[in-house]
Amino acid sequence: MHEPYSIEPPLPKPNLPGSVVVRASADELIDAIAADLVAQAMGCVRTFGDFHLALSGGSTPMPLYRRLMYDPAYRQLPWKRTHLWIVDERCVPFDDERSNFKEIDEIVGIHSDIPRTQIHPIHATEADADVRYERELASALIWREKGHDRLDYVLLGMGADGHTASLFPRSPALMADLQSAAATGGGGGGQASARAFKEGADYRLVRKNGGPSVTPPDRVTMTLATINAARFVGVMVTGEKKRAMVAKVASRSAGAADLPIMGVSPRAGELRWYLDRDACPE
Ligand code: 6PG
Repeated sequence: MHEPYSIEPPLPKPNLPGSVVVRASADELIDAIAADLVAQAMGCVRTFGDFHLALSGGSTPMPLYRRLMYDPAYRQLPWKRTHLWIVDERCVPFDDERSNFKEIDEIVGIHSDIPRTQIHPIHATEADADVRYERELASALIWREKGHDRLDYVLLGMGADGHTASLFPRSPALMADLQSAAATGGGGGGQASARAFKEGADYRLVRKNGGPSVTPPDRVTMTLATINAARFVGVMVTGEKKRAMVAKVASRSAGAADLPIMGVSPRAGELRWYLDRDACPE
């Protein structure tokens, strides 16, 4: 005999650092992320007059970016007040298929109402790309009052090797970041801020990265200091290929040098994982 209806038990959540949102499918997950993103954006625009959003590349978030453009449910996202930043970039020209900016701009930049002056690509083929981008970040954020001169929302992904942004296991940028956090308590240990950076604090907001663990080409990436200063950090992970790594992060069996995603720990912000059922360990 059939039950007239059944109530699905809640989906089990892996024990990850921060809060965890699990949805049955990647599509439902997109709704959860988009709803949170709109709420964050509206709150920031109400409070500060603008919203500083940093987006990652990779294949996982592209359906989310597309949905933000066409789903009327998310139309109230205040694009005109949004600044769009790129979390990390491959050292290729903007017309290269591997350019994160190309992909994100083709979906979001061009189709949203973000004024072009508020879209901030990383000029990753320039020798001083890292220095240039951190100056641009600091100059755009320094207008905020003290304590709020930081990114509002950073969306990250995670590779099957535990990398996030372009911070790969034991890669030079990651190791330099971890060292600077340990040595100074600044940037990683305390909260990085645009103001402190401008005043000469000895942490980096953006670094170049390369070396054996970095999937070529070389990269330019926001540092842990920048990511961990953000008001909200979302980590979007879908699909069974990531399941083993999600289990490893949940087991806390390695530190940030080997599992870069473990270094993500916002100092005065929120960390929220967004997983579909396929990415969740049994
Ligand atoms: C990038 C990213 C990177 C990405 C992970 C996951 O530019 O590739 O910023 O950190 O989020 O590699 O990539 P997938 O979503 O393609 O699995």
